[in-house]
Amino acid sequence: MDNKLFLDSLLFEYVNASDVKRAFQLEFEGYPPEEAATLEKLEYRQSLAPTLFLGAYLPPNLSTSSERLLIGFVVSTLTSATTITEESMSHHDPFGKTVCVHSVCVDKLYQRRGVAARMLNEYITKLRNESQNRDTDVKYERAVLISHEYLIPLYQKVGFILKGESQVVHGNDKWFDLTFEF
Ligand SMILES: CC(C)(COP(=O)(O)OP(=O)(O)OC[C@H]1O[C@@H](n2cnc3c(N)ncnc32)[C@H](O)[C@@H]1OP(=O)(O)O)[C@@H](O)C(=O)NCCC(=O)NCCS
Repeated sequence: MDNKLFLDSLLFEYVNASDVKRAFQLEFEGYPPEEAATLEKLEYRQSLAPTLFLGAYLPPNLSTSSERLLIGFVVSTLTSATTITEESMSHHDPFGKTVCVHSVCVDKLYQRRGVAARMLNEYITKLRNESQNRDTDVKYERAVLISHEYLIPLYQKVGFILKGESQVVHGNDKWFDLTFEF
């Protein structure tokens, strides 16, 4: 199938509780063990911030079963900090104005076809729309994430700005701060 048709056929919908296990499977397969979130962490994020957990789904007619299939997701929580630190990543502050992105993950079978870029664009659009419905004093101000160097272009393509090296130390490779200002 032509790649544009494939991307246009994807469904971008919030991940419900029953799909969190499948999200965990993607997380487990995608991230090195020291970086992967546990199932409990994903369940915590889905239960407290369901509209910050967006999935990319293959429609039923393209999936091997008769149901839509989760092939990628973005998940975040809110923080009142402005950058990612161990502390700002650790819990969800419902009054936070900074969307703290924890995972961006795509099924290995569908990588390098533009799914992550399309999904992040959808995510930003949904955040903007959702923010408009929030009270003035809790509107989203920015989305932040940390990335390894080789993936910085992915986030820049969707409008994140590189801020420099992150203070987070985790594993052997350096992390970089990226911010999307709403
Ligand atoms: C990172 C990840 C989400 C990218 O998903 P994807 O759907 O393959 O990404 P896209 O096809 O939308 O890529 C868009 C652009 O991002 C960059 N990019 C994506 N994957 C890359 C890779 N493995 N190496 C280098 N650049 C990459 C490229 O610039 C790419 O554009 P191009 O294909 O025209 O060169 C996916 O590889 C994944 O799930 N990895 C495991 C989890 C992970 O590491 N997440 C990121 C944490 S910071």
